[in-house]
Formats: sequence, structure tokens, C-alpha cells
Amino acid sequence: MNISFDFTNMMADAVGDEHGMKKSGIDSLKDKVKLIDKELKSKRNDRTLPFFDLPYQDISSITKAAEEIRAEFENFALIGIGGSSLGPKALHKALNPPYYNELTKKERRGCPRIYFLENVDPDSISGLLETIDIKKTIFNVITKSGSTSETMANFLLVRERLAEAVGKEKAKKHIIATTDPKKGSLRRLVETEGYKSLEIPEKVGGRFSVFTPVGLLPAAVIGIDIKGLLNGAAYMDKLCKSDDIWENPAYMNAALQYVSATAKGKRIAVLMNYADALDSIGDWFCQLWAESLGKKNTINGKVINAGQTPVRAVGTNDQHSQIQLYMEGPNDKTITFIRVEKFQNELLMPRVSIDGDSLSYLGGRTINELIHAEQTATELALTKEGRPNCRITLSEISPFTIGALLYMFEIQTAFAGGLYNINPFDQPGVEEGKQLTYAMMGRHGYEEKKKEIEEMAKKSRFTIP
Ligand code: PA5
Repeated sequence: MNISFDFTNMMADAVGDEHGMKKSGIDSLKDKVKLIDKELKSKRNDRTLPFFDLPYQDISSITKAAEEIRAEFENFALIGIGGSSLGPKALHKALNPPYYNELTKKERRGCPRIYFLENVDPDSISGLLETIDIKKTIFNVITKSGSTSETMANFLLVRERLAEAVGKEKAKKHIIATTDPKKGSLRRLVETEGYKSLEIPEKVGGRFSVFTPVGLLPAAVIGIDIKGLLNGAAYMDKLCKSDDIWENPAYMNAALQYVSATAKGKRIAVLMNYADALDSIGDWFCQLWAESLGKKNTINGKVINAGQTPVRAVGTNDQHSQIQLYMEGPNDKTITFIRVEKFQNELLMPRVSIDGDSLSYLGGRTINELIHAEQTATELALTKEGRPNCRITLSEISPFTIGALLYMFEIQTAFAGGLYNINPFDQPGVEEGKQLTYAMMGRHGYEEKKKEIEEMAKKSRFTIP
């Protein structure tokens, strides 16, 4: 089981001087790399950045809770949004069979079906609650802050439905909360109502929380080998120990993206997965890269409007949608392919004689060969056109390789924050929108904001609910 990173096609030798990197350019970052590395390691040591050490945690309380859930419930419904759902969803999609919920209980190895309640879309919420039997469902409400409007609104709704369906006391057994150990409305509710709960370590934020109970409890409930995931992350941790950028894949990828964005005009970072199972990892990565690096100010308060816009694409589907743009549109992107060497299935195509011999080239070849050929062809075509690209190859999709991949992206993101000199762990840009929502919904303490909105409404045409 392994994972490798090939950045040949990010270099000037492959895509030309205008768009590609020179070895000397990367070497010129040497001192900066050492400084950032030192700072990250010191924050790891003083426990300011505990996400680094999650691969080595004790998971016994998580596996115990998961066993109890598996023994009692047919359905597991996760209520959460952003970092509180993208991680578990990515693990589920990557590591469980594609039509998991449609399998029999035996085929699911006795594990519950899984559902995600994320958005506050009345139709999708009703759709779920009308589809599943809530008497056979446990709801895992996940929120680090314990107060996110969307999550708490969905939770309050579910809590009431549960009380109607099974009675107030029994309803409590259908709820398990994953939240901050001390803070937030959800933690208060856990204390007053007596819900079961798991803790998200205090200094681990949403998008870095996939290896906490946020990701691990749902994964364990649906039968994913969470020890294997953590072993993969620990393996990547070892691969990314060096402060020599040429020996550290996460630092190298961060530097390549950073220089591409800041010196080569590549303000868009496409992650193109050649495996359907990895599609939701694309969504998870987009949040990580966007919310961590999209920042107005440096740590010293200088306005820089940093960040690359991440885009998720799926090969081969997007060869029939996006590739035309990537080949001939503005040369403002980097493309990172993820390739899987060995799929779980191998499908041989039949030999046919249809329309002369126009389809005979497919006969006797495998679908596996086709998807690999298409990935290589897209890579070559982009390179010929001077479009920088790189490739991460997974020997297979397994808990180990997925753990390694996600952990590598987390280190890469933390390190890229250092290159931009921004804080990758906050999200000040989402605050204003949150406060305006609170004001519109009449939350106590937001009366001044409400007045501000009313003034703005006079000048435009939006409606205040
Ligand atoms: O990465 C983050 O911190 C955010 O995307 C959060 O995950 C998201 O806003 C949900 O927050 P919470 O877990 O507090 O409900």
C-alpha cells in the first residue's frame, strides 16, 4: 500500500518557463521553508496545533460507542455542516461500496445505513425524515462551536420529531452529540438532557477534524477500519518530517501551488480525481484549501487577499465538460490528478464486431486500462499545451491510503498558510454573513445589525424574513 507524488509536469522543463517552476525557484524558498517548519513543529510541541498528533490517539471510546450504535440502530443520520460533515462524508464515499445504503444488512456487515443532514433546505430535510424510520435511527449531531444555526436548526427539528415518535425520554437514546468539551449550546444541552457525547479536541477546527470523533465515529459505525486510517495518517506524518522541501511531499505541493498562484498567475487549483469514490474527497479538499487560505490579511495585518480557488473535477466525466477550458482557456490553473492504480474490480470488455472495426480496439482490454489511459492522455495533453499539472497516485483505495492522503493535504494546507503568512486556522470572512443572519432571524443582541440591514434594504430590493 503506498501513495506517491509526481510533480514533473509542474516544472519549466515540462511546461515551459512562463508557467513552470525552476529547481532554483524552489530552492530559493529554502530558508522560508525551514522557518515555517520550525514554527509548525514548535506549535505541535506546545499543543497549539493538536491536529498533528491525532494519528496517535486512543480510539477505544470511539469504537465502543460505534459498537453500541451498530447493535441497536438500522440508520445513522449525521447532522452537521462544513468541516463537521465533509470529512465523514468523504470517508464514507471513499471507503464503502458505491450503493451502500441499498445493500442488505448482511452485505453491510451488520452496519447501519448512513444519511447526511447538512443544508437547511426544507425539502431535503422533509425528504429524509419522511423516508427513514426515525424509530430505528440514531442522529449524530456534530458541531464544534455548538451553535451553528444550520446544524442546531436541523437538530431542534429532529429532536422534536423524535420526541413525537418515541417519547421524550426514549428520544435521548437516539441522539449522540459530537462537540467541544466545554463550550457551546450543544454541550449545555448534553449536560442538561443527558445525551451521549464525544469530544472534539479544543484546538482542532472543523476542516482539520476528520481524524477526531467527527470523522472517526461515523466511519467506525459504518464499518470502516479507523485504525487503518490513523496508521495511514501516521505513515504520512513520517514522510513529511523533513524540513528539506525536496524530501517532504506536503511542503513541496504547498510550495508548488503557492509559487504558481503568486508568481505564475495560477489562481485556480483543480483537484481531478480519476475514481468516483474520491469525489467527496474533492469537496473536502475544496473546503480545506478555500477556507484555510482565502484570507484578506497577513498575520501582520497587511491586505493580500490570498488564496487559490479550488475546483473539484472527476475524471473521466469532466474530460467531457471542463477539459476544453483547462486546455484552451486562460492558463490560470494548476491541475492535481489523483490516480488509483488498483481498483477493487477489474472489468474486461467483450470483443465485438460493430460498425466495421471502429470499436474493436476496446475488445479484450479492461475498463481499468481505459480509465488509466484516459488519465495519462489528459496529463500528456495538458503538458503539451503548457498547462502545469501534478499527480498523486494511490496504489489502491484503502483506509491506509485515504488516511495518508487526507493527512498530507492537512499538512500541505497548514504549511501553505505559512508561505502566505496568513492564519490558515480561522475564518473571519464568514462572520459577517453569520451575524447578519442572526439579526434577520431576530437573535437577541443583534438589534443594531438589524437596523443596519433595514437601512440597506431601503436602498435595494432584498426582503428581510
Ligand atoms: O472549518 C471550519 O471551522 C468550518 O467550516 C466549520 O466546520 C463549519 O462552519 C461548521 O462549524 P461547526 O462545527 O462549529 O458547526
